[in-house]
Amino acid sequence: MKMQVIKYISDLQTILNIKRGEGLKIGFVPTMGALHEGHLSLVKLAGEQVGFVVVSIFVNPTQFNDKTDLDRYPRDLQKDVDLLTASACQLIFAPEPEEIYPEPDTRQFNFGQLELVMEGKFRPGHFNGVAQVVSRLFDIVQPDKAFFGQKDFQQLAIIKEMVRKLNLDVQIVSCPIIRETDGLAMSSRNMLLSPTQRKNAVHISATLFEATNKTSELSVEELCQWVIKCINENEFLNTEYFEIVNETTLMPVKNWNENCRKIGCIAVHCGKIRLIDNIEFKR
Ligand code: PAJ
Repeated sequence: MKMQVIKYISDLQTILNIKRGEGLKIGFVPTMGALHEGHLSLVKLAGEQVGFVVVSIFVNPTQFNDKTDLDRYPRDLQKDVDLLTASACQLIFAPEPEEIYPEPDTRQFNFGQLELVMEGKFRPGHFNGVAQVVSRLFDIVQPDKAFFGQKDFQQLAIIKEMVRKLNLDVQIVSCPIIRETDGLAMSSRNMLLSPTQRKNAVHISATLFEATNKTSELSVEELCQWVIKCINENEFLNTEYFEIVNETTLMPVKNWNENCRKIGCIAVHCGKIRLIDNIEFKR
């Protein structure tokens, strides 16, 4: 069957009301397109858990604090439709910006500590834009479950907090990071790397994997310094931050003995392209 690509909210809601009437649970996978296996793993999981899967493709302008990043963001709707046709997705919602923002969204969310560190610190306004678009999309789709990747670990924490704060009736499902065969975390931005940059970018995940074996010989602080030094020794890479944080509070971990899951989060510039990744540290 031909995949339906819906542009308008009213058309989308007509279809979703019918599906709900048939007793189907709605699963929702929000994306910005330029899809890869990482996105498709979310769609697959959604297909296993609900009766009807909606994927949105919308490059949300309000979450880009850097205009050139927005302009450069890869877009290829036809390729995305082809990929989704071969997946568990049953409906694509690909609206124009005016449909999502008929008037400017002036809402200001306050996520406290969650937005003051890492991505929130280096991309001011980014998570406010993410919360604006995801809350708007949730309002439109009214999903029973929504699927997000751990690749954007801090985004996941923000979304969970937003759902809690706004008291939304949606279950957030957290999905594992999908990597290229050499270990690089899949990202739509990887296709913007030159072949040489791509070859060197693998040093990010390789360093993170190696770091997980060093928790008995190095303190948290020493390990953070080791990771940054190791990555910056590669002439194509420049680390913006590397922090090991408490999974729930995102407060920096000071000691391996702290009783929480510990996630090491990194952002690295590879030429003009900014890549993020994260890994759990166990002891
Ligand atoms: P986008 O970067 O397109 O990612 C859409 C979803 O795919 C996110 O939940 C992201 O975490 C997940 N994802 C991306 N790469 C992944 C990988 N390698 N493994 C597992 N999951 C991966 O994140 C956004 O879009 C936007 O901020 C959005 C939530 C759609 C709001 O605009």
